[in-house]
Amino acid sequence: MTEDRSNTRVSFDTSLESERLLLRPFTTSDFDALYAIQSRSDVARWLYWGPRSADEVRAELKKKMQGFTLDHDGDGLSLAIVLKASSEVIGYGSLILVSAEHRQGELGYVIHPDHQGHGYATETARMLLQTAFHDLGLHRIIGRIEPRNEASARVLERLGMRREAHFVENEYVKGEWQSEAVYAILDREWRVG
Ligand SMILES: CC(C)(COP(=O)(O)OP(=O)(O)OC[C@H]1O[C@@H](n2cnc3c(N)ncnc32)[C@H](O)[C@@H]1OP(=O)(O)O)[C@@H](O)C(=O)NCCC(=O)NCCS
Repeated sequence: MTEDRSNTRVSFDTSLESERLLLRPFTTSDFDALYAIQSRSDVARWLYWGPRSADEVRAELKKKMQGFTLDHDGDGLSLAIVLKASSEVIGYGSLILVSAEHRQGELGYVIHPDHQGHGYATETARMLLQTAFHDLGLHRIIGRIEPRNEASARVLERLGMRREAHFVENEYVKGEWQSEAVYAILDREWRVG
């Protein structure tokens, strides 16, 4: 990872590792794993997209393979989550630079249903928060969820993130009004926690 603190430019060219997981950049050989995840309607239930077709997943994989620089507002990086024990890609975690000026970021994660409920999203998010605060120098990270997405709410709460907002039916998604809960944590809170 290289960093120029003067403009928050960060090029992410490395991997992150925890006890059970490796987070690494996507490669073309990850298509099948990404398709297995993004083509599922249960995975996409509380997301803005999907379920995705093979062509859509191909385009998405291309985007994921290009995004390694958090430079401008809206830039994001998405890392494949590899289960070290089996070398399987079981999901992905993402960080988006919401505002370079205000050092704000956003966290995201998706785990294949076969692997949910083992704490992998939480373990992934911890690595991403550590990177966001420690290496990227961000000040505040948010997580945005549809409040009915209980599994995701549990992850954010377990990380010590504070529920700061609940917008009622502020978005029209997939043919219905949806609400949005916003969670957040500051760099100093992460260091303390
Ligand atoms: C949200 C998601 C990433 C959680 O992944 P995960 O690896 O199962 O998460 P963890 O195991 O770290 O933690 C999940 C927690 O929620 C609980 N949980 C799992 N599924 C649940 C469900 N359907 N309803 C309520 N709680 C649930 C788990 O029991 C665990 O809590 P606990 O350890 O206190 O018992 C996963 O469900 C997912 O990929 N969903 C589809 C994509 C998505 O919605 N991503 C988030 C977008 S905001």
